[in-house]
Amino acid sequence: MPERSKRLDSIPPYLFAEISRVKAEAIASGADVIDLGIGDPDLPTPEPVVEALAKAAHNPATHRYDETPFGWVSFIEAAADWYGREFGVRVDPNGEVVQLIGSKEGLAHLAYAYLDPGDVAIVPNPGYTVYRVNSLMAGGEVHETPLLEENGFLPKLEDIPVEVARRAKLFYVCYPHNPTGAVATPEFYADLVRFCRDHDILLVNDMAYATVSYEGFRNPTVLQVPGGKEVSIEFHSLSKMFNMTGWRLGFALGNRDAVATLAKFKSNIDSKQFPAIAEAGAEALRNVDNSASLAVYQKRRDYLCDGLNAIGWPVRKPKATFYVWARVPVQGMSSAEFCKSLLERAHVLTIPGTGYGTQGEGYLRMSLTLMGDREGERFQEAVRRIQASGLLG
Ligand SMILES: Cc1ncc(COP(=O)(O)O)c(C=O)c1O
Repeated sequence: MPERSKRLDSIPPYLFAEISRVKAEAIASGADVIDLGIGDPDLPTPEPVVEALAKAAHNPATHRYDETPFGWVSFIEAAADWYGREFGVRVDPNGEVVQLIGSKEGLAHLAYAYLDPGDVAIVPNPGYTVYRVNSLMAGGEVHETPLLEENGFLPKLEDIPVEVARRAKLFYVCYPHNPTGAVATPEFYADLVRFCRDHDILLVNDMAYATVSYEGFRNPTVLQVPGGKEVSIEFHSLSKMFNMTGWRLGFALGNRDAVATLAKFKSNIDSKQFPAIAEAGAEALRNVDNSASLAVYQKRRDYLCDGLNAIGWPVRKPKATFYVWARVPVQGMSSAEFCKSLLERAHVLTIPGTGYGTQGEGYLRMSLTLMGDREGERFQEAVRRIQASGLLG
């Protein structure tokens, strides 16, 4: 076999190997593991969306390539309308929106569409690893902005060296944030827009969790800020919004040049999805209310956070996302050590914060999506087991 491309050396080693080994061992010995690892909605896609797919699949017009430049027209129009309704900002379905095979695909390909050797992408640490890995694989360099708890997990723009800003082409941010659950303010976005405009950087705003929020909270968007559309492309996903992770459907919207650049790159890589999926996505965006799923996450969040606080592990309730980002509660233990002990002694699986970057040391992530849980009973059980494990002292 020929040697694989050097590009693949940018992919970090699999950090969860030890956790996976302990999990497999526990399951093999008959243990009932509560897996708070993956963030993937356990509730089904709403029935009207499945019905729309079935109906569209019977239409032979969907059996062919989608030859449009930006995406299946009813989907692109539904996305633009949804954005207007949800955030009060008009985007033009003719050129300011592009359909994606999930937002991960678009976030990754954007790096290849913009970065040449010597160009820099600014990425959050901790953060979704896709920004970093693909910027490196595309041949660019990466500057990591530390997201610290004392700054509300927002990057400090004044700490970014001028030399980095001069060479940067992309600035990835994500709020509501995976993994910390942090949210952003319009003032933060206004500063970011100014920073990106001053340094000629494309602001890449990942909003995969835009609608996963509680008690009426809505994270603002970058396009709501004056001048936002001049410097930004924003990524949205139907995955978490409508329990559709497996369907692979998302969209990006914002600056016309950035949308066209991404669409041009993609047109040489993929030929879009089965149009019936896009048709079902249009139905979801136009007519489906997924608040029942949010109510379930909220109940689980409350059982888990209230429960942990009550047994002496202080954790913050996220306003958005389905992640609880908690400090390691035992002095002198690393994130990986603590997660391993929790799995061994309580059979509760969590993800060490270092899986999301060096700044994740000292933290761990617990997901509120859990197959087999109905109304939070497994989260109550997780709290009971954590207390009984004696790990908290
Ligand atoms: C922050 C963030 N962005 C984007 C994605 C990608 O979602 P999808 O490709 O399913 O749209 C995820 C998935 O976990 C995520 O956590």
